[in-house]
Amino acid sequence: MNKLFSEFEIKNLKIKNRICVPPMVVGLTEDGYVTEANIERYRQLAKGGAGLIIQEATCINIDGRLSSKQLGIWEDTQIEGLKKIVEAVHLEDSKIFVQIHHAGVVGISESPLCPSPYEYKKIEGTVIGREMTYEDIKSVQKDFIEAARRAYEAGYDGIELHGCHGYLISQFFNKKVNTRNDEYGVNKEKFVIEIIEGIRKVTPEEFIVGIRLAGFEPSIEDGISHAKILDKSGIDFFDISYGFSDEQEINVAEGYKFSNAVYAAEIIKKEVSAPVFGVNKITSAKIAEEVLKETGIDMVDIGKGTLINPNWANDAREGKDTGKCVNCAKCVWFINDGAKCPGKVIYERNKNK
Ligand SMILES: Cc1cc2nc3c(=O)[nH]c(=O)nc-3n(C[C@H](O)[C@H](O)[C@H](O)COP(=O)(O)O)c2cc1C
Repeated sequence: MNKLFSEFEIKNLKIKNRICVPPMVVGLTEDGYVTEANIERYRQLAKGGAGLIIQEATCINIDGRLSSKQLGIWEDTQIEGLKKIVEAVHLEDSKIFVQIHHAGVVGISESPLCPSPYEYKKIEGTVIGREMTYEDIKSVQKDFIEAARRAYEAGYDGIELHGCHGYLISQFFNKKVNTRNDEYGVNKEKFVIEIIEGIRKVTPEEFIVGIRLAGFEPSIEDGISHAKILDKSGIDFFDISYGFSDEQEINVAEGYKFSNAVYAAEIIKKEVSAPVFGVNKITSAKIAEEVLKETGIDMVDIGKGTLINPNWANDAREGKDTGKCVNCAKCVWFINDGAKCPGKVIYERNKNK
């Protein structure tokens, strides 16, 4: 396992291996404030040996939430609790970024913001996004910048902008959603570039500012173009995932060995200078090593694998069974809150044999 357990640096930040726990909202708060359960979860993940943890989508303002169980970073009084997560992770010799997030039209707001009056089809019915005025744009950008300032004050090593999976920044990037005629429609990256510039003004040079970006937004050509523009604007890393789910054009070389998201990461890696992370269905140490070696990307995200087994990285290093997600999708967005994860049941049964 040469590459998986080799050190890596983003700017001046040393990361002890190439394993990243990607952001995963698991709903352990009721009001956006950090609970003991949140702190304990991140302590266990850090103890588990991953070099880097990216904290779950943490909302930049109360109106932008995807769920009432999401963590928040919208006011200074939340810094104290967030600090406790950071301290727990740093004590276990791991690094931590926080993913900062606004859901836009797919959120729980009664009148959700969107770059354009996009019709979003939910199970409960169609929601029409409230087209953002210039003042709305400036106000949400300020909330992202303030959230990053709070993250710095709480001690995080950096932030990840949630720029994919159909949330607000993804809505700005996607030409099928963002149909504006003004400068924020003509230049789909402008909304996020101004956020990055604002964050640079309120945080020091060494503070890492990266983005979770879609490879397919809507097509891979668009994904590459967004990445190249952000690369020039000085972003510190790209964590490549999926785009606005109803509006993606996924086109992957036939017989590609890994997931579609890893394919996008491999393609984008060839076009940018900043480090690139890949994700999705990297279910064993062997696959993780192959992804790193064969695609040239820099870090691998192990998501559901670490929900099943927070000790995933240590077990992988020791050549032990890491457990395996069975792709039942019950954990996604806690629709099956409290239900036993079948992958975890199998893993624990095998471990205790
Ligand atoms: C319960 C759950 C919550 C998630 N929450 C987030 C999130 O907050 N932000 C995000 O960018 N992705 C989120 N994701 C997606 C994961 O970060 C990851 O991209 C996805 O699980 C695929 O990786 P995997 O195959 O290793 O699980 C979530 C996934 C799950 C299962």
